[in-house]
Parts: sequence; structure tokens; C-alpha cells
Amino acid sequence: MQPTEILMTEHKAVLLSLGILEEAGRALASGSADAAQDLEQLLDFFRGFVDHCHHSKEEQILFPELVKRGVPQEGGPIGVMLSEHEAGREHVRRIQALLQASQRGEAGAADQVLATILSYRALLEAHIGKEDRVLFPMADRLLDSHRSEELVQEFDRIELEHVGQGKHEAYHQMLQALQDRYLNKTRTEN
Ligand SMILES: [Fe+2]
Ligand SMILES: [Fe+2]
Repeated sequence: MQPTEILMTEHKAVLLSLGILEEAGRALASGSADAAQDLEQLLDFFRGFVDHCHHSKEEQILFPELVKRGVPQEGGPIGVMLSEHEAGREHVRRIQALLQASQRGEAGAADQVLATILSYRALLEAHIGKEDRVLFPMADRLLDSHRSEELVQEFDRIELEHVGQGKHEAYHQMLQALQDRYLNKTRTEN
């Protein structure tokens, strides 16, 4: 098993979740009463899973390993990935603050929540594309199978520390429910 396979599988979950996040943002902007609570749950997932778990696997395990093997950190692909992770965190903080403003009834805040979600989605989609197509193939060439197995074990440790089995299941169920509500709605309505 390659560590990049695990990260690419997680990317698929992130891309799906971004689609749900956008639809929940659209629902908020059109005045849905339930959307704010759904967005709170999604933001918890983006902080807890995408940031603390997925990005930690990259920042604490994979990227330092690539730097050790000669991939430059500054002025190279890893520096770009790290600054995009930071930009992503900033987007999540901003969406959270705007969501609270919209709950207080501030005019225009719900529209700004949606606009910030659209920019967050574009940022992460482009970021994931660069990792999947450029950085991870590079990592696959640099890592031998023994070291790959060790990194996979370190990923397991991060997963356990940052998410844990119970939380992992809870995220999964939450995303399934919100996927049914926001992405499969035309199928269930018809
Ligand atoms: Fe990343
Ligand atoms: Fe990633």
C-alpha cells in the first residue's frame, strides 16, 4: 500500500464534501431554516477531518519525508501546498464567522457565506488536482516499499489521534445524511 493511495482516497471524500458544502451554502442563501445547522456540522468535518487529520498526514509525515529525499520546501511544490493549506484554514474560519453573522441576522452575510464557500471549493479542488497529478506521482517515485509501509503506519497513528474510530463513523454517517439531503434531492423528490 502506498501512502499516496490513502491520501487520494481521502481526496475523493473531500471533493464530495465540497459539493455538499456548496449546496448547503446555496440553501442558506435562499433562506433555508436547517442549512445553518448543516453547515456547522460540515465545518466541524472540514476542521476535524480535512485539516487536523488529512492535512496533518501530509504536513507531519509525507512532506517532511519528501524534503529529506531532496524535494525543495521553499520555492517548490511543498511550499505551495503548505501555503494553500493555510489559505484553506483561513477560508474555514471566515465561513464560520460569516455563518455566525448570518445567524445574528446581519444583512448580506448568508450571501457572503456562499461566496466564501465557492472560493474555498475552487481552492481545494485545484490543490487536490496538484497533489494527485504532480506531487503524489513524485512521492511514489521517491519512496521504496518498506518506507511506504512505515508511512502508512504513521498515517494510522495520526488518524487514531486526530479522529478515532467513533468520530470516523460519526463523520461518515453525517456526510451520508447530508449527501442524501443536498446532492441526491432531485432523485428522492421525483
Ligand atoms: Fe494538501
Ligand atoms: Fe491532500
